[in-house]
Amino acid sequence: MPVKHYFYFNQNHSDRWNGGKLDKEKWEELRNDSEDTVFSISESMSDYEKSCLEATEHQEAAAIMTEEIKANNWQNRRIISMGAGTGKLEWHLKQQNPQLHVECTDYVRSSMDRLKKVFPALDDAYEFDMIEGDYSALATDSVLVFHRLSNEFDPDQWRTVFSKMKEGGVKDIIYTPCEALTPILALREMLVHIKNRLLGRRDTFCGWMYSEKELLNIFAIGGYVVRKSRNLHRTKIYFLQRQ
Ligand SMILES: C[S@@+](CC[C@H](N)C(=O)[O-])C[C@H]1O[C@@H](n2cnc3c(N)ncnc32)[C@H](O)[C@@H]1O
Repeated sequence: MPVKHYFYFNQNHSDRWNGGKLDKEKWEELRNDSEDTVFSISESMSDYEKSCLEATEHQEAAAIMTEEIKANNWQNRRIISMGAGTGKLEWHLKQQNPQLHVECTDYVRSSMDRLKKVFPALDDAYEFDMIEGDYSALATDSVLVFHRLSNEFDPDQWRTVFSKMKEGGVKDIIYTPCEALTPILALREMLVHIKNRLLGRRDTFCGWMYSEKELLNIFAIGGYVVRKSRNLHRTKIYFLQRQ
């Protein structure tokens, strides 16, 4: 069973949001925060670049993906990132491979508009809803990247995403879960949530945490198998292929 994940952003956000699920409106607020935070997209190009340079985990993930992109001769594919948010991973992909074609998508359109301004090397950025969208539009000559999105959806929603990708003809996927859920992590998650409540801090419901086994079952719904995986801190980067 996936475990519910809560996060305390700050007093202002958490009090106003009143414990509700992190959704499109809340993500939009976080991305457009006037204060620079790890969740916001800076308005100035220099501040944005500084925030990308500080994102060392995204840099490491991009280095691993770069090695695999080269090993698979995917240099001429469209690398399309789903739920790209701040675009930091994609910024590092472009830094490491200026010739690579990289597109960012997210259901928050204003994030994608802001990204185009501060990240001009990006090949495209546009609105795409992973639950509602038509994947056949993204399937041609592409590799779809799902980076740190596993928390966003419940199991039924993930089944929908993988079934839709199968129907749409998506062949290759790079999938990095937020973390691999273990019993210790589940216990820690519960204790942090209780501690927040005891301290009167209203944390926000941010989705679900999955074990590796649960994720592999979800991948299989679309007929996707793990061709290779690489370790990245508390998680793995999975290279999935449609059978
Ligand atoms: C945890 S962030 C991950 C951002 C980025 N991939 C990263 O690694 O930093 C989740 C992102 O998914 C986006 N998102 C959530 N639900 C979505 C949906 N149904 N369709 C498209 N994007 C969605 C949010 O707007 C947010 O930018």
